[in-house]
Amino acid sequence: MPSTKTQIAGFPFENCLMNAAGVACMTIAELEEVRLSQAGTFVTKTATLEARAGNPEPRYQDVPLGSINSMGLPNQGLDYYLDYLLELQEKEPNQTFFLSLVGLSQEETHRLLKQVEESEFKGLTELNLSCPNVPGKPQIAYDFETTETILKEVFSYFTKPLGIKLPPYFDMVHFDQAAAIFNQFPLAFVNCVNSIGNGLYIEDESVVIRPKNGFGGIGGEYIKPTALANVHAFYQRLKPEIQIIGTGGVLTGRDAFEHILCGASMVQVGTTLHKEGVAAFERITAELKVIMAEKGYESLDDFRGKLQYIEG
Ligand code: SIN
Repeated sequence: MPSTKTQIAGFPFENCLMNAAGVACMTIAELEEVRLSQAGTFVTKTATLEARAGNPEPRYQDVPLGSINSMGLPNQGLDYYLDYLLELQEKEPNQTFFLSLVGLSQEETHRLLKQVEESEFKGLTELNLSCPNVPGKPQIAYDFETTETILKEVFSYFTKPLGIKLPPYFDMVHFDQAAAIFNQFPLAFVNCVNSIGNGLYIEDESVVIRPKNGFGGIGGEYIKPTALANVHAFYQRLKPEIQIIGTGGVLTGRDAFEHILCGASMVQVGTTLHKEGVAAFERITAELKVIMAEKGYESLDDFRGKLQYIEG
């Protein structure tokens, strides 16, 4: 039977599938549901210092080929997630979980990361540099100078395993420039990609979400080719110590297979998890194992990053 086990920063996971931050992770009840499912682990909703209500509703809409959202970082505040993770770590010392966070300013980001650094948290931290939905706050990772400054400052005090959640990039030069920055730092992983920011979905003559006159992050089937391109572009450019988490357009085992083929060590499920619930993990895992068995692959290492090109 093929195995979908994986590891990130040396932490082992029984399965390479998990939720994407933003889906099934706002409350402890939701996180527990993911933890007790076939998912290999979970990531929390991106935490800010204080709890936030987020943008006005309706702010998330499933649509036929995916989803559109402008949630605006609603969350329970860092203490809520950190306290839960610290308790969980006592209860389940052999399991590792991801804590997602970002401040509403650079100062706040440093306060959050310093709190995590000073805590007993032993898991993986994901710094979200890509939320497209807070009015007036651009996606940080589209500003290379700011990104480099933040990472320089963060790694002057943060010693725990840290990764970053990235927006999609669309230009080879931007892949090169971003990778040159990330390669300067002891990042554990990059997560490619967050939603494609600021799309519009229209029904009849109207937008479908209230915030920002309907502009929102696009997820689901629409974004798989972009997500795969980002996973592979960073797999080709980053030093091998920086692992890739693939996120975007994972509806089936075939989609997860393609993310791994492009170089992902872990695969996150967002829109599909929202549409289908945690049963999606069991289904997608089973589908992935069937593909692996058909191809004679026993582990993810047998095909990770081995995307074939058309030569000549
Ligand atoms: C949101 O809360 O607006 C979504 C978070 C994200 O896209 O990073």
